Amino acid sequence: MEIEELKKELKKYLKEERYEHSVCVMEMSEKLAEKYNVSKTKVMKAALMHDMAKEMPIEKLKKYILDNKIKVSETEMLLGITLHGKVAADICRKKYGFDYIMCKAISNHTTGKPDMTMFEKIVFISDKIDETRKYDGVQELRELAFKDIDSAIVKNIEYTTKNNLEKGRIILEQSIKTRNYILINRKN
Ligand SMILES: [Fe+2]
Ligand SMILES: [Fe+2]
Repeated sequence: MEIEELKKELKKYLKEERYEHSVCVMEMSEKLAEKYNVSKTKVMKAALMHDMAKEMPIEKLKKYILDNKIKVSETEMLLGITLHGKVAADICRKKYGFDYIMCKAISNHTTGKPDMTMFEKIVFISDKIDETRKYDGVQELRELAFKDIDSAIVKNIEYTTKNNLEKGRIILEQSIKTRNYILINRKN
């Protein structure tokens, strides 16, 4: 399915604001794909559809996970925050023919994961720095993403983690794993 058709589909799932976020994530992913020499169309489609299940009620997401035998950890099931990515990936594979790489990027877009491909990194960071994002330091992070995408991912996770700690929220261990993996494996 072409991008324009996917946009029409996405509109059925999302309210205006989240639809706008999705389109902006897609636009960011296009620029990053150019910068890092990843072929554009698939990244853009994955970026566009990453949040397509975000407005499903949590009980519906859980039911979908169980009915479709999607693998998720106990913590994920308990917290629910990452489930929309897992469900979106499954729907995109079955309904829109997305391939393994696209689905993996969608599936892990909330926390990232260790050893991400450039494709996955682009989808992950585009979601955090798209033009609808307004948090302190987002402009610096946008610039950093084009110079050193790994550092941008680490900084984003650190920012989110700090924020969650201050608010007494749960920290997703997968984000910490993503950050540690980059720190351990970086060459400089
Ligand atoms: Fe999301
Ligand atoms: Fe998102």
